[in-house]
Amino acid sequence: MKRTSSPPTTSTSKRSKPKTMTHSEELPLPLYNPSTSASLSLYKSAHATSIQNTSAYWSSIASSKLDWFAPFSSVLTGSFIDGSVSWFAGGKLNICHNAIDRYCSPPYNRGNETAIIWEGDEPSSVKRISYRELQLNICRIANGLKSIGVQKGDVVTLYMPMVPELAMTMLACARIGAVHSVIFAGFSADAIADRIQDAKSKWVVTAASGSRGGRNLPLKTICDVAVKKERCVGIVQKVLVFDGAGSNGNEWDQDESLHVRFTDLVSAQRPVCACEWMDAEDPLFILYTSGSTGRPKGLVHTTGGYALYAMHTTANSFGLAQQTGPSKEDDPHRDVYACVADAGWITGHTYIVYGPLLNGLSTFMFESTPMYPDHGRYWDMVQRHKITVFYTAPTAIRSLMRFGDEAPNKYDLSSLKVLGTVGEPINPAAWKWYFDVIGKGKCAVVDTYWQTETGGHVITNLPGVTPMKPGSCTLPCYGIEVVVLDAATGQEINETVAEGVLAIKQPWPGMARTCLGDHQRYLNVYMKPYPGYYFAGDGCRRDEDGFIWITGRVDDVLNVSGHRIGTAEVESALVAHSNVAQAAVVGVPHDIKGQGICCFVTLTEGVPESEDLIKELRNQVRTSIGPFATPDMIVLTAALPMTRSGKIMRRILRKVAAGELDTLGDTTTLADPSVVDTLISKVEALK
Ligand code: PRX
Repeated sequence: MKRTSSPPTTSTSKRSKPKTMTHSEELPLPLYNPSTSASLSLYKSAHATSIQNTSAYWSSIASSKLDWFAPFSSVLTGSFIDGSVSWFAGGKLNICHNAIDRYCSPPYNRGNETAIIWEGDEPSSVKRISYRELQLNICRIANGLKSIGVQKGDVVTLYMPMVPELAMTMLACARIGAVHSVIFAGFSADAIADRIQDAKSKWVVTAASGSRGGRNLPLKTICDVAVKKERCVGIVQKVLVFDGAGSNGNEWDQDESLHVRFTDLVSAQRPVCACEWMDAEDPLFILYTSGSTGRPKGLVHTTGGYALYAMHTTANSFGLAQQTGPSKEDDPHRDVYACVADAGWITGHTYIVYGPLLNGLSTFMFESTPMYPDHGRYWDMVQRHKITVFYTAPTAIRSLMRFGDEAPNKYDLSSLKVLGTVGEPINPAAWKWYFDVIGKGKCAVVDTYWQTETGGHVITNLPGVTPMKPGSCTLPCYGIEVVVLDAATGQEINETVAEGVLAIKQPWPGMARTCLGDHQRYLNVYMKPYPGYYFAGDGCRRDEDGFIWITGRVDDVLNVSGHRIGTAEVESALVAHSNVAQAAVVGVPHDIKGQGICCFVTLTEGVPESEDLIKELRNQVRTSIGPFATPDMIVLTAALPMTRSGKIMRRILRKVAAGELDTLGDTTTLADPSVVDTLISKVEALK
């Protein structure tokens, strides 16, 4: 089999063409096939059953895998058309009970088993927290939250480092029916303020500080700046500050009218707190994500469907089994599962916190970075903790691969069985390095495709079941009916080999139900583009075996190191600067990050171009969004390529930024075609 490293683009589109990653390597790779044709046939028939009668499929799993306080009276109701999807209506449950409490009692009796293995910023700082300890701590936090007035339905914003207290507070919110809104600790004060305002969140939980890669993260200080912004004044009632959590310190200034010393308050609480009975459709959490227009949207995930989907996909995609009793001493099959993402993103919500704990597994929380204290950190952890399932992003693999094989070869990686990747298409060279050098050719590499909106994996190979093709996320998960649509006509392409946009034909339990406070936006973005389908926003290709290859976003959303960033967000950060007249932001292929951010900026009349101004603009984006959105390239220009009707031609900007000058296309329709030559020479000078 031979494939090129640049994934194909979709067919003629009424939207802009997908921005694809191009990597320099081109590798002919074989089909990796540790599975058998029998297992693949079993998958195919089970998958067919799961989508033929999707309600029956999910109903039986929901009844057998989750504890319900009251049974559900219907399974699936509603449709994509009006976004009225509801799963397990009438059913009452609590996800914290399902993830924690039930494992502390018969028949599971896993109270003494490790629930969280936490590794702090320094490799020597490791904590193991049992299910029972976790339960007691969650109850204390839950009581602490209640004692300051948090009620069922309130939105609690969490801005925390990767410490156990983050997972515990998420679960404590779920326990009392509060809705958590976790903000990744790399976001700026402005971004926090926007999210607090949007969710009208009265409560903010943070930590005095965090540590990452040997550096201090002044989280409480950033939160203070956020909550003092005009748009948050009158909304936020209290900021609860953990101190001494994880690797962070406990020195901080307290404003008694605002701050609560949460560590002290929590430790004074009774470690018993009943779980609130939640309706299956009650909101569990909000998570903000970027779209192609406007401000980030708060996607709302609900309790029952999300719990089921997180639990089910964690077990299936990683070849893990729900733990139904105490572990046997020295069990050679004992799994140590480690997802090294950050809980501030959906990957952390589903595959660090909820999915593993709902299965009674131990989960790993990693506070540091793959480069600290050196680039062998991941592999050192695999050896020390005997990790069996390791889940990371292609960007991390690419950045570690640069250092060669010496670091991974220094460590014993023989415990590994399954390697996972998520967040962006994985290029064949990175796949091969992961498979050969990390997995020693004996591990399954699961390429999990999904989104904040989907709640959990929707397309992935299953270890030992689906043959692997490097770069393809392969086949849909159980209960997921994936179709490829012609982007222009919206018609399903029935031929096996197809190229178009990815859509899902039937509701699934883990899907987000709405955008907080703006159901119309939810409908416009996901349901209206192709009526009757959920539109994922990605282009894809389906090959002769029916395997899916994601070709990238077909909207103005960038994927930078697996982080989703809207070009509109970066543009509005730039135009907020008084010297900026206009900004157009496009993605540019980047060897490590997948995509980099390239900004074309015109200045207000009379402002001279300067290096200092470029620095200021870069800083402006960092302050407005966060350091992870720092532009890779800022091109100051007197003019942008515009059509005669005044529309910026982003297609041309993308080509110029990528240096793909042979395929610039027709520039004669521009109001001033000479702008393009100026931009080309400016970009070349910057490279
Ligand atoms: O473009 C797809 C890409 O990441 C987007 C979702 O981003 P986010 O909501 O931040 O969630 C990231 C973690 C699930 C998708 O629309 N994406 C995610 N996983 C893959 C991927 N692209 C290709 N292959 C994947 N495995």
